[in-house]
Amino acid sequence: MNETVGKPVDRVDGKLKVTGGATYSAEFNIKNMVHGVAVLSTIAKGRIKNINTGIAEKSPGVIEILTYKNSMQLHSPSGSDPGGGKFAEKDLLPLQNDRIFYNGQIIAVVIAETFEQAEHASHLVKVDYQVEEPVFDLLKNIGKAYKPASGLGGAETQVSRGNAAEAMKTASVKIEQTYTTPVYHHNAMEPHATIALWQGETVLFYDATQSVAGVKSLMASMLGVPKEKVRVISYYIGGGFGSKGFTWSNTVLTAMAAKLADRPVKLVISRQQAFTTVGRRSETIQKIALGADQTGKLSAIQHHNTVESSFVDEFVETAGVATPMLYSSQNVDVSHSLVRLNKVTPCPMRAPGEAPGTYGLEVAMDELAYQSKIDPVQLRLINYAEEDEDKHKKFSSKNLRECYQKGAALIGWDKRNPQPASMKEGKMLVGYGMATATYPANRSASSAKAILFADGHAEIRCATQDIGTGTYTIMTQTAADALGLPIEKVKVKLGDSDFPKGANSGGSQVTASVGPAIRAASLGVVSKLVKFAVADAKSPLHGQKEADITAQNERVFLTSKPAQGEAYTDILKRQNLQQLQAQAATKVSTRQQTEANPAAGGSPEKEIEDESKTNIAVQEDEKLDRKPFSFHSFGVHFVKVLVDPDLGMVHIDKAVAVMDVGTIMNEKTAKNQIMGGMVFGIGMALMEETQYDPNRGRPVTRDLANYLVPVNADMPEFVVEFINKPDTIISPIGARGIGEIGITGITAAINNAIYHATGKRVRELPVTPDKLL
Ligand code: MOS
Repeated sequence: MNETVGKPVDRVDGKLKVTGGATYSAEFNIKNMVHGVAVLSTIAKGRIKNINTGIAEKSPGVIEILTYKNSMQLHSPSGSDPGGGKFAEKDLLPLQNDRIFYNGQIIAVVIAETFEQAEHASHLVKVDYQVEEPVFDLLKNIGKAYKPASGLGGAETQVSRGNAAEAMKTASVKIEQTYTTPVYHHNAMEPHATIALWQGETVLFYDATQSVAGVKSLMASMLGVPKEKVRVISYYIGGGFGSKGFTWSNTVLTAMAAKLADRPVKLVISRQQAFTTVGRRSETIQKIALGADQTGKLSAIQHHNTVESSFVDEFVETAGVATPMLYSSQNVDVSHSLVRLNKVTPCPMRAPGEAPGTYGLEVAMDELAYQSKIDPVQLRLINYAEEDEDKHKKFSSKNLRECYQKGAALIGWDKRNPQPASMKEGKMLVGYGMATATYPANRSASSAKAILFADGHAEIRCATQDIGTGTYTIMTQTAADALGLPIEKVKVKLGDSDFPKGANSGGSQVTASVGPAIRAASLGVVSKLVKFAVADAKSPLHGQKEADITAQNERVFLTSKPAQGEAYTDILKRQNLQQLQAQAATKVSTRQQTEANPAAGGSPEKEIEDESKTNIAVQEDEKLDRKPFSFHSFGVHFVKVLVDPDLGMVHIDKAVAVMDVGTIMNEKTAKNQIMGGMVFGIGMALMEETQYDPNRGRPVTRDLANYLVPVNADMPEFVVEFINKPDTIISPIGARGIGEIGITGITAAINNAIYHATGKRVRELPVTPDKLL
C-alpha cells in the first residue's frame, strides 16, 4: 500500500544539508591527515625529460612529492561494471611513466602538512619536457576518423535498417544539415575529492563517486589488495552528472600518496583542474538528413556523428543512440566516427548521447516541419513510433501522445502563429518551440538489507548512493510503505561499500534498480513478522492465514478485521529479539532477463541470494518475462522565448515539460530532477562551451567566470508535469529513472523557439548573441 510514495515529501537529508551536518567526502577530519595537491602538465604531448622536485621538497611543510619516479606500481583496472566506477583512462594509469597525452594531465602530487603548503610547493615543481606535435581540433582532423566497434557497455554505434540513402533520393521533402555541439564540462558543485586512509593492508576511501561499489572493485584491482580490504564511503555527493560515474586518477592517486606519506591524505581537484582531469562531454558534429513524403511521413533518417576520444581510452558520445527508436521509419542509418585528440578522455555527461543527439535530431525535425508546412507537433504524431522499430519490441509503457497534448495546452501552442518572426511583445520577438525528450529506462541488479529494531524503528542498508537527487528520500518512502511504518521511523543508509551492493548512480537507473530490492527486503521483514505471529499461541493472529494479514501503521492485523492484530514491537518482544532483518537481491536487468550481481567483496552476497529464493516479492518480480519489451521514457519540452532584436539576447520566458516516466515516487524531488535537467539544457543551448587554446590545447574557459552556467536570472517560469502511469513491466514499483531525460530535447526546443522568434536558424551550439545578429 502506498502511503507516502508519490507525495511531495521533503528531503529527509534536507535539514542536514542546509545546516552543514551532511558530511561530504572532503569534509572528514581524520587524525594525522595531510594534504595532496596535484601538479598538471603544461604540454599536450610528449615526455617528461626531467622533473625537478628539489626546491619543492624543501618548501615548508612538504612531506613527499609523488611522481612517476617514486610511485608504486599499479595493476590494470578490472572488476567494475562498465556503467559505474569504470577507470576512465585505461591506458593512462597515473604516474606509471613519463608520457604525456594531454595538457593538464596529472604528473605529480605534492603532499604537505597543510593545503596551503602543498598548494605553494606545487608551483615549485620544475619540469622539462620533450615536446611532440599534438592534435587538438576535431574538424581539422576529421580525416583521421574511424568507426568504433561499440560504445559504453557494448552499445551499438552503427545501426541501420532499410536503405536510407536510396530513400532520400525519392523523398518529396528533404532536409540535410550539420548540427554541432561544443565540449561541455560537468562542473558539479562539489569538487572531485578523496581521502585515503591505510591501516596495514586495509584502505578506506571517502570518495566523491557515483559508485561506491565500482570504486571498491577498481581500487582493489589497481592497488593489488583483496576486495574485502577496501571500503569506500560516499554519504553525500554534491552532483556528479557522469563525471563521478567513471573513476579518474585522483582517487587512486590519493591512496598512492597516503601509502608514500604513511599518513591519511586528502586530495581535492580544484575547479580549474577539473577542466582537464575528470572528463568532459565530447564535441559533436552531426550530419542529419531527413526525407519525407507529401504527408510528412518519414521515409528516411540519416544521422552521422563525428565525436572525439583521447589517445588513452575510447569513449563514444553516442549522439545517434535514440535516432533508430524515436520515430517510425523504414529506412534509418546511424553511424558514429571517432577522432582521437590530445585532450582528456570524454566521458558520460547527463544523458550521454541523447543530450546532444536529441538536439540535432529534434532541430532537424523542426526544419522538416517548416519545409513540409506541417505543425511540428503534428509532424511528430504522424511519425509516432508505436513500437521500438530498432529492437522490434513493444515499449513497456509509452504515453507520449498525452505528453504532446498536455504540453501544447500548457504553453498555449494554439496561440502560436507558425510564421517565423511574426510574434512580438513590445519590441521583443516572441518564439515558441517544442521537441521530444527521451531516455532509456534502465534497471540492473541490486540488493538491500532491512532491519527492524526492538524499539520499532527500521534501518535500510544498500551500497548505492545519493548523488544529490533525492535517493535517500524516495528510498525512505519506498521502505516505509513496504514496512508499514511512518517515514520518521525509517532510516536509510547508503554510500558505504560494505552494504549489500546497489546500482551505480548512472544511466538514470537507481530508482528502478534499488527500489525493488529495498521494497523486497522490507516485505521480507514483514513476512517474518507475520510468520512469528501466526505461529505464536500468544498472538491475536495465532493460526490465521498469512494471506489474510495486512501490515500497516506499525501493526500486523487481519485485513477483514483490523482490530484483531498486534504491534511489531510486541512480536519482537515476545520473540525476545533485539532486531529482525531480511535481505533481498533482485537480478532483473532491462538489458537481459537477469544479470549476475557480482559480489562487492565483504558483503555476503551469496547469503542474500539464498535468502531471496524464499522472498515472494523477489520471486514475483523475477518471474516476469521482460525479453519482449523495450524500456524507454518519453516526454516533451515546449518553450517560449523572447529575443531582443537589437542585442540578440535570448531570454527563456516559459519552459514546460511533460514527462512519461512511470510512477512518480515523490512529486517534489521528481520536479526538481526534471527542472535540473532543463537548467542544464538552458546552459547547453545558450551559454556553456569549453574553449581551448588552439596552440596549446588547454581550456581557457576553466572557471565559472569564463565557462558560463545559467544562474537564477536566466530562469524561466517552469511548468513540469507528469503522466504518472506506472510501468508495470519494469518493476513492481512502476517507476523509471528521471535523472537524465530532463536535459534531452530541451536544447532543441529552445533552438526551435529562437528560429520561430527570429527566422534565423543557428545550428552550432551555444546560440550566443553574436550568432543571432
Ligand atoms: Mo549519468 S551521465 O549516466 O551519470
